[in-house]
Amino acid sequence: MKLTPEQQAILDGERGEVPAKVMKTLVMYGETFGAETMVPVTGRLGHTVISFGINAMKPVYDLYDRLLEAGMEFRQPFTADPLPLDRNVPSNLLQDLVFRQFMYKQQGRYEDQLRRMGMTSDRDFTCACYFDQVGNIPEKGDVLSWAESSAVSYANSVLGARCNRNSGIIDVFGSAVGYVPCFGLLTDEGRRASWVVEVRTTRRPEAQLLGSAVGMKVMEDVPYIRGLDTWLGTELNADARAYLKDFGAAAASNGAVGLYHVEHLTPEAVEQGEGLILPDAQVYVVDDAELDRVRASYPVMWKDPDAEPKLCFIGCPHLTMEQLADWTKKLEQGLKETGREKVTVPTVFTTAPAVLEEFNRGPYSVRLRKTGVILSYICPLMYMNNPLSKKMPVITNSNKLRTYTSARYYTDGEVLDILTGKEAK
Ligand code: F3S
Repeated sequence: MKLTPEQQAILDGERGEVPAKVMKTLVMYGETFGAETMVPVTGRLGHTVISFGINAMKPVYDLYDRLLEAGMEFRQPFTADPLPLDRNVPSNLLQDLVFRQFMYKQQGRYEDQLRRMGMTSDRDFTCACYFDQVGNIPEKGDVLSWAESSAVSYANSVLGARCNRNSGIIDVFGSAVGYVPCFGLLTDEGRRASWVVEVRTTRRPEAQLLGSAVGMKVMEDVPYIRGLDTWLGTELNADARAYLKDFGAAAASNGAVGLYHVEHLTPEAVEQGEGLILPDAQVYVVDDAELDRVRASYPVMWKDPDAEPKLCFIGCPHLTMEQLADWTKKLEQGLKETGREKVTVPTVFTTAPAVLEEFNRGPYSVRLRKTGVILSYICPLMYMNNPLSKKMPVITNSNKLRTYTSARYYTDGEVLDILTGKEAK
């Protein structure tokens, strides 16, 4: 690794022993991936994937205590992933006990650490930190030190920023010293596509299903997607951005995609077009039959596959304002058609705290609550990832939640039919 004099000075301990160790960790991390240089983090804000205080991760919080005790100066303030707990989300007494007394016992301690390390605000716990209401929106070409896979995918692909798929802790370390190792998605070559995905469906593909198909096929490679502009248009408007948010989260979790290009739509594809495609790129054709095949391959993890759903989570990744309004209208219409007043399954919509505030000031909030839907700012994955919740038959439209938990995936249309009573599960 060739370091600049300033980077070498940090490594040599000029800023103190702890920053030197942080720098050493980043250098070793970079060397593992063949990085030859460290580059400055240029994004205005960092983002950390660890937002939860669980006992199993006590060594992480001990480590952060050491950074704070050493007076480590954090070069970049940051936002963080969603919080794990919200009393509005239905839970039984046993779950409450497990969540608060055992699982998330370190939560208070960790949130206090985050504030002291440079968390921007208590309102900024969301995986969709790039929403206008939150404001952590990197510029094109910015170098980032993030780790949340859905946010990294969005920043790289939709915003044209540059970020590797780092891990928790590494994200905070990069924000602390202000440098990250240069490899992979930070380089021009690493951003070229080794796959061409041809979308040839007869209708707009479900974002979370297409993302799943692409992720499982290309894994950690970069795909160049043709044919999606037929369904999304060529303008990165609110609808296209929400679609790509959901598509990217599914591709990042069902595979390990950190960057994708959509022909005529995403910034680098618009600028460089087919020049982004590597000469020996492989081709993956996605048609209706392929999406059906992928969908049919999902295992049902429920103990009783015929159980009635007990809970429904929508909003992984967090929902945009437009998605909240859209769901409200569709639920109202569906309930009107079936002559019902409330959704048939306890349902939680999750979004960023700042979006929630704005939504609550607008006309749709009362209308949505009238359908029985509960609004929250949590991460559904953190609700699901324990033995008690695992046993619950939970449904979702999120392919990320399906992948990491026992939740069962349904398309938006199917969820709507279940919630409005048009179709029994
Ligand atoms: Fe966000 Fe949690 Fe889903 S971080 S993408 S809501 S798993």
